[in-house]
Amino acid sequence: HLKEPTLCSGSRRHHGTLMAEEAKKLAAYAAVDTHIQNNQVVGVGSGSTIVYAVDRLGKTKICFLSIVLIQARQLILQHGLTLSDLERHPELDVAIDGADEVDAALTLIKGGGGCLTQEKIVAGCAKHFIVIADYRKDSKALGQQWKKGVPVEVIPMAYVPVSRAIARRFGGEAVLRMAVSKAGPVVTDNSNFILDWKFEHAQKWKEVNTAIKMIPGVVETGLFVGMAERVYFGMEDGSVKTR
Ligand code: 5RP
Repeated sequence: HLKEPTLCSGSRRHHGTLMAEEAKKLAAYAAVDTHIQNNQVVGVGSGSTIVYAVDRLGKTKICFLSIVLIQARQLILQHGLTLSDLERHPELDVAIDGADEVDAALTLIKGGGGCLTQEKIVAGCAKHFIVIADYRKDSKALGQQWKKGVPVEVIPMAYVPVSRAIARRFGGEAVLRMAVSKAGPVVTDNSNFILDWKFEHAQKWKEVNTAIKMIPGVVETGLFVGMAERVYFGMEDGSVKTR
């Protein structure tokens, strides 16, 4: 899932707007330059935006990286960075990661790429959790930008009862995420399934997150409440907005 970004070729601007890939890079570079020092232990998540952060780290810093996905390994080694893990470095100086949506209170939806539990563990081990995203993720309220719902990682045998419990208690529907090929469900990095909870209205996210986690069979939710310290958005006009 740590995908190679499609770098924009030619003109940096497209019809007067900075394309999303350039915006991701702007956010990633600004966050790395501001928050990460040499010799720090840094946690990185997954997705296309984080690739730019690893790229910047490789060019400017010497640090130890604790990673969410083994797919990141090659990228880290390519950039001459040192690979670590939570056994060697259970406390991280900084964690940096992308997001699918960020609201005004810095509550995040994550897990659009299928990783959320390991990302939340890494973020939870860090003294500072910094989020990087392009302008499309910037939202006043969750659900305004990201239409695919809140990912919930579940133990495979429990996906039907968990789906029903979420719909009954919080409304909307929680749909099993299928592979693009439709050959079967998406299987996470922990060998679990994902339900995408398409909620109908705004919620008290902290309470809802806690309540969903109490349903037997739920491993973790893609709601990151009260975790992000600062978010960097690369904007269409080439600026970087922080919140
Ligand atoms: C993966 C994630 C990603 O951080 C999130 O989907 C953002 O990805 P991208 O940087 O490609 O937009 O949570 O499950």
